[in-house]
Amino acid sequence: METAQFGATPKGGIKRLTVSDEDKRVRDWFKTECEKLGCKVEVDEVGNMFATRPGKRDDILPIAMGSHLDTQPTGGKFDGVLGVLGALEALRTMVEMGYQSNAPVMIVNWTNEEGSRFAPAMLCSGVYAGVFTPEFAFSREDRAGIKLGDELQRIGYKGTHKAGAIKFSAMFELHIEQGPILEAESKMIGIVTGVQGMRWYEVTVTGQESHTGATPMLLRKNALLAAARMIEAIDQVGMAHLPGVASVGLIENKPNSRNVVPGEVFFTVDLRHPDEAVLDKMEKAFRSALPKIAAEAKVTFEEKRIWNSPAVKFAPELVKCVAQGAAQAGFKSREMASGAGHDAAYIARVAPTTMIFVPCLGGISHNEAESTTQEECAAGAQVLLNALLTHDASLA
Ligand code: GLV
Ligand code: MN
Ligand code: MN
Repeated sequence: METAQFGATPKGGIKRLTVSDEDKRVRDWFKTECEKLGCKVEVDEVGNMFATRPGKRDDILPIAMGSHLDTQPTGGKFDGVLGVLGALEALRTMVEMGYQSNAPVMIVNWTNEEGSRFAPAMLCSGVYAGVFTPEFAFSREDRAGIKLGDELQRIGYKGTHKAGAIKFSAMFELHIEQGPILEAESKMIGIVTGVQGMRWYEVTVTGQESHTGATPMLLRKNALLAAARMIEAIDQVGMAHLPGVASVGLIENKPNSRNVVPGEVFFTVDLRHPDEAVLDKMEKAFRSALPKIAAEAKVTFEEKRIWNSPAVKFAPELVKCVAQGAAQAGFKSREMASGAGHDAAYIARVAPTTMIFVPCLGGISHNEAESTTQEECAAGAQVLLNALLTHDASLA
């Protein structure tokens, strides 16, 4: 609730776009809290933050816990934030109890998980994992043409460490489920086994601007009408490939004037499915629908896939630590796959990784009304700590 003030919205949510002034405020807060616990805080070149508490052994790599502190433009208080602050709580508990782990323990705040201001999502955990170059990240532009690299510099979080140079041996990410399953089944903990595949596309439809009063219906080249039909077709791609999902979330209409037939529309497409082969089919169906719609509406279009994050399976030995951690604390749990993307999906490429889910009210997320009870947050932090210590015990 304290950090939720950084970017608080009137409707009770948070607008804390990555690498904004609000993001700087929460980063400064996080750094101070970690330092109070005796952690050393380091920042890499893409702004990822690493807070480390030494263990009994300095010859082995830290065990990491982490997530993200950036939010959607109308985000809630828990998406990402719980994973960082839950980790802080777990570490605080260890410090207060005077508990010394075998391995050093690390908390990570990943830059630009949301991908809302700068596409794609999970950008800087992606850089850490070698999926993207730092230069690619720096050059990402928001819709106003501002570059991520310049913003990192401006808020003072372009660190000196090379991305990927600050190492850890494993990572646990605590997160709200962002879906309705745990709540529906009255389960406290989701033991996350993987993340579904995700692909993002950008489409620009070009028609012709003309006078709405003087241009007869049959002579129009209406880019917005064509885009509307494309959006309908994209929805049908999702419906035809359940449990796959297909969404258009961002749309810009030009010139956006009430008496001009729209001449250009930009929109984004987000396709997801747990099975890559089905995702291929969804992509094919989406791509085959567009030309026909464009021809009928007498417009042209350009379409580009800008991101492909394949389906991920988490490390079985860490998944087991989470299951044990939930059982140890007496929480009802179930295994599940993640519908949302997470930094853990990229980190799984370079270190054993897994996730822990807790319920959120009505399964609602990416919404200012996002809500998880104090009891559920505490349960998540407890299982995070239990899982971390179980794993740490195997390193004695
Ligand atoms: C990240 O929040 C995503 O799943 O798009
Ligand atoms: Mn998140
Ligand atoms: Mn999110």
